[in-house]
Amino acid sequence: MPKITDEIIVRGNRIKNRIVMPPMYTFSFKGDSGSFFGRQHIKHYTARAQGGAGLIILQSARVHGSMNSTKLWSADNTSVLKQIADGCHAYGAKVMMQLSCNDTDINLLSIDVIKQTQQEMKQAAVVACSLGFDGVEYHCAHGYFLCKFFDADYNKREDAYGKNAEGRVRILTEIIPEIRKETNDKFIISARMGKFEPAENDGIEAAKALEKAGLDMLHISWGMKMPKGQAPDGFICSYMTYNAYEIKKEVSIPIIAVNEIRTAEQAKFIIENGYADFAAVGRGMLADAEFANHIINNEPVNKCFGCYENIVNKCSWFTDHTKCPARN
Ligand SMILES: Cc1cc2nc3c(=O)[nH]c(=O)nc-3n(C[C@H](O)[C@H](O)[C@H](O)COP(=O)(O)O)c2cc1C
Repeated sequence: MPKITDEIIVRGNRIKNRIVMPPMYTFSFKGDSGSFFGRQHIKHYTARAQGGAGLIILQSARVHGSMNSTKLWSADNTSVLKQIADGCHAYGAKVMMQLSCNDTDINLLSIDVIKQTQQEMKQAAVVACSLGFDGVEYHCAHGYFLCKFFDADYNKREDAYGKNAEGRVRILTEIIPEIRKETNDKFIISARMGKFEPAENDGIEAAKALEKAGLDMLHISWGMKMPKGQAPDGFICSYMTYNAYEIKKEVSIPIIAVNEIRTAEQAKFIIENGYADFAAVGRGMLADAEFANHIINNEPVNKCFGCYENIVNKCSWFTDHTKCPARN
């Protein structure tokens, strides 16, 4: 079985260990002179790369504007994004962008709007590649736009973008060959999704359809709602991380597990028992930028206080990161 410190190759990219910083929106960060991203972001992400994470996935970024270099894709922002990618690479981490779409009722969308959205999704990946990112993760989790397409209960479309697992993930799979044409051979295309409790096979079928279409990696979080259930006795991590294992059993592409992994023991448990290929440490890495190095070197971590359990708006990083009790 692999060790947490073992490298892994994903689409020709050598990722130096199994510890991932998952996407986390930095709500209270400020850009510089009107830009969305700024020096604060460069410092934040570079510090986690210096802190030893093998792979860093940036906070969610909307794809809209990628076609005409407006909004988040303006020159001010993309120059900062490039510095983030370069800063992470300087410390040997691989770095990807998370891409998301404006949330809306997907059942009412015309084919024209779907096609337009797909072009923006593709172009955002092409720009991310040109800025030096190693890949992109499409945000198909947490009840948002792409998640709604993936979810069998929500997606009631009767056209090619619904009806069965292949149809529900088509909004993403259709653009994979197009992205490949305009990015380098090593560019990673990944997705974050849930396992879709209680219709658990829906998530597995979606994962299989994505793998078949050439997706490189999957990050398993939650879908339309938080999964309710219990991991088997002896499984020392959360039920959500167990969901990652249930998907891993069914596909061969690398799987990232996430949720409440806060200790070296838990991270090692996931990797060293083959439950997932990567352990993502979210709030733990907000509380301790050196989290990865600390667990690799058997040093104590500066632990996240776990200010929320299931209630999203209690972690102070959602409102004002300076109030995070772990910073003191
Ligand atoms: C402040 C904050 C912002 C987040 N922003 C995002 C985001 O942009 N995209 C996303 O997919 N998940 C987001 N998440 C969820 C995390 O990626 C992660 O799945 C979650 O925190 C559970 O992992 P943890 O228990 O290790 O923190 C966010 C979480 C936090 C705490």
